[in-house]
Amino acid sequence: KSYRVAILGATGAVGTELLELLDERNFPLSDLKLFASSRSAGKTMKFKGEDLLVEEVGDRSFANVDIVLASAGGSTSKALAPKAVASGAVVIDNSSAFRMDEQVPLVIPEVNPDAASHHQGIIANPNCTTILMAVAIYPLHKARQIQRIVAATYQSASGAGARAMEEVKNQSQEILQGKAPTSEVFPYPIAFNLFPHNSPMTANGYCEEELKMVNETRKIFNAPQLRITATCVRVPVLRAHSEAINLEFEQPLSVEEAKEILSQSKGVRIVEDWQANYFPMPIDATGEDDVLVGRIRLDISHPNGLELWLCGDQIRKGAALNAVQIAELLVEQNLLSAKSYQSSAIS
Ligand code: A2P
Repeated sequence: KSYRVAILGATGAVGTELLELLDERNFPLSDLKLFASSRSAGKTMKFKGEDLLVEEVGDRSFANVDIVLASAGGSTSKALAPKAVASGAVVIDNSSAFRMDEQVPLVIPEVNPDAASHHQGIIANPNCTTILMAVAIYPLHKARQIQRIVAATYQSASGAGARAMEEVKNQSQEILQGKAPTSEVFPYPIAFNLFPHNSPMTANGYCEEELKMVNETRKIFNAPQLRITATCVRVPVLRAHSEAINLEFEQPLSVEEAKEILSQSKGVRIVEDWQANYFPMPIDATGEDDVLVGRIRLDISHPNGLELWLCGDQIRKGAALNAVQIAELLVEQNLLSAKSYQSSAIS
C-alpha cells in the first residue's frame, strides 16, 4: 500500500529535509504535494530526479491527501491542521501549536510509540531540544527513575529556520570583512557570539523554549511531576544542538550500566575517547540520525547523579526524521484511518 503525502512548509529548513528523508527511507508514496507560502508558489524542488511544483497552500489543499507533514510555523498549523483532518488527512505537526493539547499525542517513536494510537487526526512532533534529550535519557529513566533533570543547551541556528542559518554565514563574513553584522532573523548578532534563547520570556523567568523542555518531556515520559529545569542558549552553529544534562536518579546508576543501557538503545550512539578528549561535537552530529552521547560520568556532587553531554542534528532527529518516523509508525500500525479532531479549549 502507498500513501498520498503533502509537505506544508516544503521550502523551509525542515521541509527540505523531509523531502530528502522520504526519498532516503523509501517511504511508500503514491503522490507527493509540496506547499508553502505565496512567496514560493511556482518554484520547483527535486524529488527522485523529478521537478515537483511548490504550490501556495489554501484551505482545500489537503482534500486528496492521507498524511500531511507540517512545518510552516504555529499559526499556519493552527489554521490549517483541523481543516486537513476534516478532509480526511492525518497531520504530523512540527510546530508547537498542538503539543500540549490533551487530544494530541506528542510522540518520539523510540520513547512513546504507543501514544500514537490515541490520535484524533493530529500528532505533534516535540520540540527539537526535547526530542534529542528524551531519546538519550528515557532508557536511563526506565532503568532507575529520573527524579530531577538539570539541562543547559547550546542550540544551533537551524531551529529558527533556513534564513537564520544564512544569517550565521552572512554575519561571519561581514565580521571577517570588518563590517558590523546585520541582524534580521535573530535579535542580536549570532556570529562569534551567543545569547540566551530568543523565544518569548514568561512570567517565571524561563523563556518558552525552556518551558517546552519541561512540559513536553513530562508529557512524553508520562511523568507529570518530573522535576526539570533548563537554560537554553543560542550558539553560532548551523544545524546540530548540544546539551549538557545532569540527571538525579531514585537510586544510583553506575557509568558502566548507563553505557550498557545506552549502547542497546535505538537512536543513541555513544561517542567517547577519553584519552583523546574526544566527545560528541555538532559537526559530527550533522547529517546523522543518531543522538551522540558522551562524557558519561558520575556527578561528584550527588550520590545518585549522572552527567552526560549530547549532540544531535536539529533538523533531522530534532524535527524531520522524527516526523517521518511517526509517519512510518502510523503506516506500520495501521493508524491512518479518518479521525475527528475537535478544536479544544487550548488556544
Ligand atoms: P516560504 O518559503 O514560502 O516562506 P523555515 O522554518 O526554514 O523558515 O521555513 C518555514 C516554511 O514555512 C517555509 O516553507 C515557508 O514558506 C513556510 N511558510 C511560512 N509561512 C507560511 C504561511 N503563512 N503559509 C504557508 N507556508 C508558510
